[in-house]
Amino acid sequence: MAITLGSIVGRIFEALSSIRLAPPVPTPFPDRLAALDPAESTIDNDIYDTQAFDWSRSGLELLNPARVGYFMDKLHRRVSSLSPDEKREITIVDLGCGAGLAIEAIHSAILHASSGESRVRQTDSGLFDGTTTYKLIGIDVSTRSIDTARQRALSRSLSIDYVVGDIYSLPFATSSVDAIICSDVLEHLFDLPLAFSSIARTLKPNAIFSFDTINRTPTSYYLTIWILQDILRAMQGDAHDHRLYVTPQEVHAVMRSNGLKPGPERDLVGMRPGVNWPPVALYRLMTGAGFINSVLAEFRLTRDMSISYLHWCEKVQT
Ligand SMILES: C[S@@+](CC[C@H](N)C(=O)[O-])C[C@H]1O[C@@H](n2cnc3c(N)ncnc32)[C@H](O)[C@@H]1O
Repeated sequence: MAITLGSIVGRIFEALSSIRLAPPVPTPFPDRLAALDPAESTIDNDIYDTQAFDWSRSGLELLNPARVGYFMDKLHRRVSSLSPDEKREITIVDLGCGAGLAIEAIHSAILHASSGESRVRQTDSGLFDGTTTYKLIGIDVSTRSIDTARQRALSRSLSIDYVVGDIYSLPFATSSVDAIICSDVLEHLFDLPLAFSSIARTLKPNAIFSFDTINRTPTSYYLTIWILQDILRAMQGDAHDHRLYVTPQEVHAVMRSNGLKPGPERDLVGMRPGVNWPPVALYRLMTGAGFINSVLAEFRLTRDMSISYLHWCEKVQT
């Protein structure tokens, strides 16, 4: 991996670990692409179904400027390659949508995109821009998260459909979806090959899957697990297990074995948070914004992939 600020931070912590001032990076699972036993992991994926999980304090909205810009760019490229007939209706699915924070931002990006005279409007079947109807669907295994997402959509009059369902057995027809996004979810999955076979089945030929996830590096262990989760307890419950984080090489391997072709290397980019000025962070902390939303600022794209990264793939036409 290239030497970046993030990788230097990781090495500093590893040096501290060698003199016992920090814990060692956990030993990875022997094969991240095997079907793993949930009982072997410390992650608690049930936190999203408990009353305690507060989406507004999760910090996930801070990812929106970087991730939604990236997802929209790939979506535009896909739509512009289609014939008028093929682009009459475009279905976009957010896998593991939680409370809908990312798909709501996609809804807003489509709604506020105007080309020439045409204005995008909401219809019963989705967002219509004069040529294309965009159908937006969020799916998550957590009933409570989907209830929250539905309430938010209702109160803001958004045309997004929400479904309770499992990534491993997506309730969509074969070859029916034009674009899937999956944000901060792959690092929660125990069976990536099963998830990707379900994703590949659902996508139309040449349709795209774009995602962001957390890389499995020393830096991501020390910053997201040791400091944020274990020491500061800034995340609710055992939100993450470092051994479930996924490297780009692993994601590319599981994509290829399911007939999905990774996008070009230049589209593999990192994502990192900004940090608020201390007075701003203190003010936000004192006014109850929660630790993550107070200290961290909006995420940005970067070449440094030592924490998170984004990439995409397309379904190969057979
Ligand atoms: C960190 S949250 C991300 C939520 C949302 N994508 C966002 O970024 O705002 C992870 C989400 O993945 C969902 N999830 C985990 N395993 C899943 C599965 N097998 N099928 C569907 N959703 C799943 C969880 O319920 C949770 O809502």
